[in-house]
Order: sequence, then structure tokens, then C-alpha cells
Amino acid sequence: MQGAKGTAERRAVSSRGPLADLDLVIVGGCGHVGLPLALALAESGYRVGINDIDDQKIDEVRTGHVPFKEAGAEPLLGKLLPTGRLELSSDPAMLRRTRTVILVIGTPIDEFMNPSVRIFERVLDELTPHVQNGTLVILRSTVFPGTSETVERRLRAAGIEADVAFCPERIAEGHALEELRTLPQLVGVTSDAAFARARELFERMGPVSIIRTTPLEAELAKLLTNTWRYMKFAIANQFFQIVNRSGLDYNRVLNAIRQDYPRAADLPGPGFAAGPCLLKDTMQLSAFTPDHFPMGQAAMQINEGLPGYIVDTLNSRRPLLGRTFGILGMAFKGESDDARASLSYKLRKLAQFKGAKVICTDPYVSDPSFEPLGKVLRESDVLVVGAPHRAYRELELDGREVVDIWGITGPIRL
Ligand SMILES: NC(=O)c1ccc[n+]([C@@H]2O[C@H](COP(=O)([O-])OP(=O)(O)OC[C@H]3O[C@@H](n4cnc5c(N)ncnc54)[C@H](O)[C@@H]3O)[C@@H](O)[C@H]2O)c1
Repeated sequence: MQGAKGTAERRAVSSRGPLADLDLVIVGGCGHVGLPLALALAESGYRVGINDIDDQKIDEVRTGHVPFKEAGAEPLLGKLLPTGRLELSSDPAMLRRTRTVILVIGTPIDEFMNPSVRIFERVLDELTPHVQNGTLVILRSTVFPGTSETVERRLRAAGIEADVAFCPERIAEGHALEELRTLPQLVGVTSDAAFARARELFERMGPVSIIRTTPLEAELAKLLTNTWRYMKFAIANQFFQIVNRSGLDYNRVLNAIRQDYPRAADLPGPGFAAGPCLLKDTMQLSAFTPDHFPMGQAAMQINEGLPGYIVDTLNSRRPLLGRTFGILGMAFKGESDDARASLSYKLRKLAQFKGAKVICTDPYVSDPSFEPLGKVLRESDVLVVGAPHRAYRELELDGREVVDIWGITGPIRL
């Protein structure tokens, strides 16, 4: 709901030029990061332009459908569409109508461990003709360190005086709307004016604190945040393998480490560390570092090697050739419909290499090759939990050969 205060503030943001009838435009605004951000900002009273090259997603969002699973997003979209505070377009000319542009396009790494910095250059070339002088360009994608400076330089070379700020997204997918209002916001800037504008934008959304840094500090802080998380999962997975290989029950060892011992309470349990961010961002940090970051490389090997460890362990116990191998959960994490960079797919491939017939199921990821849960339960000789969805917690699996490194169906089992 927008009160009188919201309207006045909006006018203040919009008054930087006669064409600025949109308070901001989000490029990549139909994505996993862009759309929740657009909704949160529109809910705070801003008039938000959503720009995305994907026409299908634009049509979906326009008709009130959120293209992915995100808690609370669809009802909020339904509430906001009638207010007129959300406008959608695939035409970059939309940028002419604002003085605040937020970029949240994907930033992949190629198979040679090269961060695709070009992606920003290409998108910028497309967008630059539409960026107005005096625009605040906020980069929100996770980027290779130094990208903000490059973007500012390229805009200046094109004759555009724009402030560039790096304000990384740090939400966990699926919980964006709640976390956007509560997590601290890093604002990496080179001027007081840019800081004031970025702070005003985010403060209205509700972050408890705004932390000012330089762009490079914020770029590194974001990569280090994700890499730290990824490495914690890696050590948890390596501990699991060490203990499992020695024939002991990891549940007992993990409990002995953590129980009533606060200094070890943050040791995660084992599980697939996957998805579109953690591995990619560890790779970006590795590519940025002259020694290629051996600890990060080790974390990648351990986490990416976990499906292989599971398949090899099962196969050495009893050959998988000719057996039916059922995978429960193909998303990259529990309660998600996002299968990007999910390790369940690697698990499927490795089990197939060993000659197993693999059948997969997932309550949220739609894929015509998947089977209903009942059929997978009925036909599998061995069941492996790939994603810890809640639906698997109550399954009756006594007497079955089950692998559950998450411990969601009972104790951790391999
Ligand atoms: N997914 C997460 O949980 C998460 C969390 C924090 C940070 N990030 C970072 O945010 C960035 C975006 O990730 P995502 O998961 O939202 O990706 P996504 O693929 O879900 O969304 C990107 C969107 O950008 C659109 N797009 C691509 N090129 C475009 C262009 N030229 N013009 C307009 N739109 C364009 C795509 O159609 C898509 O809708 C990445 O850098 C990622 O590392 C993601």
C-alpha cells in the first residue's frame, strides 16, 4: 500500500528528469533474483519497470504467475498487478523512463573456468543507448571482481555520466521476500551521492542495516560469502566420507562432535552442495586469484565428487549393472523447483554409466522423463535421496536399500 509519504518520496526519486516516470527498471526482472526484488520494491511504493529478454516469462508474470517457486511471491504479485506499480517489457527502451537501473542478469562461468565478463559488456552495449545521463546503475548480479569499475568506464566512454554501485543479492532462493526485508545490504560505491541514492532505495524496502564499501570490496565480499558457505559444505562432506569409508556410523560421530558443544554446532551435515551460485562463485574467486585458490579447488572436488562417491560405494558393495536405481528429488536443494546445476543429474549419469536403470522423481521439477513417486518407490532396487524435500520425510522405507546422506528419511545412510 502506498501512503502520502510514499508518493512524495517517489516523486523525489522520479524528479530527476521529465521522462523518469518509472522509479527504477530491473534488467533481468523476471529471474529468480530480479522478480522478488521487483515485488519487494513495488510493495514499498516504487513504480517498477521489469525488463527481461524472455517474452514467455514476461507473459507469465503479467498474468499473475511466478515462473518459479518462491515463498509468498505469487500472492504478492496478484496484489501488486492491479496497483499499476509493476510494468513489464522486453524492450530495453524502457530504460529511457528511469534514472535508476538495476542489473540482475545471470553471470555464468564457462567450462574453462572463465567467468563470462563479456556478458556484461554485451548487455551494456545493448542497454547503453537507452541509459540517461545521471542514472544510478546498480549491479546486483554476482560478478567477477572489477566488473563495476569496467561498467562505469564503458558508460563514460559512451558519453554517459552514470554512477555505478555494486549492491549484491545475498538471499537464499525460495526465501527472498522475507530476507530482502531483513538482511543487511552491502552498497559498494565510489561517491557520497551514489551512496545516498542507493541507500534511499534499499532502506525503504527494510534492510536492517546498510553497509558502505567500495565496489571492489562488495564484489569480493559477495564471492567470499558464497565461497565460505560452499567450503563449509565441503568439509562436512569430506568428514562424512572419511568416517563412512572407515566403516563407522557417521550419525554417531556427528552427534559426538556437536552435542552440547557450541564451538562445533555450526558443522553442517553432509549433502549435495549444488545450485546456480555456490560452485560458480567459488570458481570466480579461483579465477581471480593468482594461485587459483587451492582450498576452493579442493572444495569443488569434494562437493562435485560426492555423487561419484555414492555410486562407487554402492557399486563396490553390489554391482549396479541391471539394477533399478531410483532418485528421489532432482532439484538442487529441498523445497525448490530449481534444477540448475543440481548434483542429482550427475548422480543419474554416473549410475547409468555403471549399467543401472535410473528412474527419477521430483514433486516440484517438471520433466517428462520423470516418474511419479509411487512408481519409483515400487520399482527401485535402491533408492537415493537427491534433494531433501519434505515430502520424503514420512516415507515408509523399512527393509529397503536406501541412501540418504541428508538424513531426512531417518538417520544418515549410505
Ligand atoms: N538465484 C539465487 O539464489 C541468487 C542469489 C544471489 C545472487 N544471485 C546472482 O544473481 C544473478 C541472477 O541470477 P538468477 O538466479 O536470478 O538468474 P535467472 O536466470 O533466474 O534470471 C536472470 C534473468 O535475466 C534475464 N536476462 C538475461 N539476459 C538479459 C538481457 N540481456 N536483458 C534482459 N533480461 C535478461 C533472463 O531471461 C532471466 O529472466 C546471478 O549473477 C546470480 O549469481 C543469484
